[in-house]
Amino acid sequence: MFVPESIAHIMLQKISDLQSIIEADLAAIVDAASLEAFRLKHLVKKGTLQGLIDDLRSVPKEDKPTIGKALNALRSFVEERYTTIEQSLEPRTLAPSIDVTLPGRRPPVGAIHPIHAMIDRTIEIFSSMGFDVAEGFEIEDDEHNFGKLNFAPDHPARDMQDTFFIKSGVRSDVLLRTHTSSVQVRVMEAMKPPIRCIMPGKVYRNEAVSARSLAEFHQIEGLAIDKHLSVADLKATIMEFARKMYDATAEFRFRTSYFPFTEPSMEVDMSCFLCSGKGCRICKHSGWLEICGAGMVHPNVLAACGIDPEEYSGFAFGFGVERVVMLLTGIDDIRLLYENDIRVLRQFRS
Ligand code: DAH
Repeated sequence: MFVPESIAHIMLQKISDLQSIIEADLAAIVDAASLEAFRLKHLVKKGTLQGLIDDLRSVPKEDKPTIGKALNALRSFVEERYTTIEQSLEPRTLAPSIDVTLPGRRPPVGAIHPIHAMIDRTIEIFSSMGFDVAEGFEIEDDEHNFGKLNFAPDHPARDMQDTFFIKSGVRSDVLLRTHTSSVQVRVMEAMKPPIRCIMPGKVYRNEAVSARSLAEFHQIEGLAIDKHLSVADLKATIMEFARKMYDATAEFRFRTSYFPFTEPSMEVDMSCFLCSGKGCRICKHSGWLEICGAGMVHPNVLAACGIDPEEYSGFAFGFGVERVVMLLTGIDDIRLLYENDIRVLRQFRS
């Protein structure tokens, strides 16, 4: 017997068929183009979904709620899946494509910083004379920075104006070392003579920043302790170093000076290596450049560090690195050495 199918029945079948087609088409979406093809086929006004919705008009009134519900369910399903897929495709389709044929970017290349090149060269020269290298601490106590170096308790160098003190809450004598002479003390405490040592490192002073000075800079300290060392050894060592470092034909001048930790104390000048002593802008037309402070280690310092001053003697010297680097390189503003500008560094590539 032929039983005509009801309109509602046909509609339900159509909805179910369309759902199968849509599911297959959704699964085939792989990129923006197939997504767009799907939209044009199913989601536009003349698309499959709207076609079925239009057919709702011919459904008898009593079946409309059932068919309408089924159509709505299909529509929500499609819209939800479509949005999810669209969002998942977005980053890939929007991401800029990488052009693998472009040349690579070269990382900028600097050079050994002139301050460290100077320290390295100094170590090299002193090593050839039998000196070791030692490093102390940038954070020191009063005793190593001043006390054992024979600074009187009221010596002005301890003044707040020069020294950065560190508030520790526990101790009031902690500071940033103001010179590398503190390392001399550490070395003498730790080693027995004979001692031959250079001590490069950073030091700190509460000074206004200008083209000529910074609150942090580098020094290199030297120390030799042995039996029978004299001023002659001190002079020969410094002259040998300076002739190797700056100018093989240099002349020297040893001027008396004062440091609490040496006796006698002196300042050492070298004939200007830029004008050979004739006088120029750099040596302020004097023909001389001051190269370091030096002296024979004070007996009080030896004794404070556990070395018998009756048996041993020694000499020490110390100089600032930045000033020398500026002389050697022609850099006339000390701040350029600290700004890490690769254009400055690049000029020192060997
Ligand atoms: N510590 C001194 C300063 O900072 C430099 C110095 C002078 C070091 C004489 C020495 C020395 O070892 O003997 O100015």
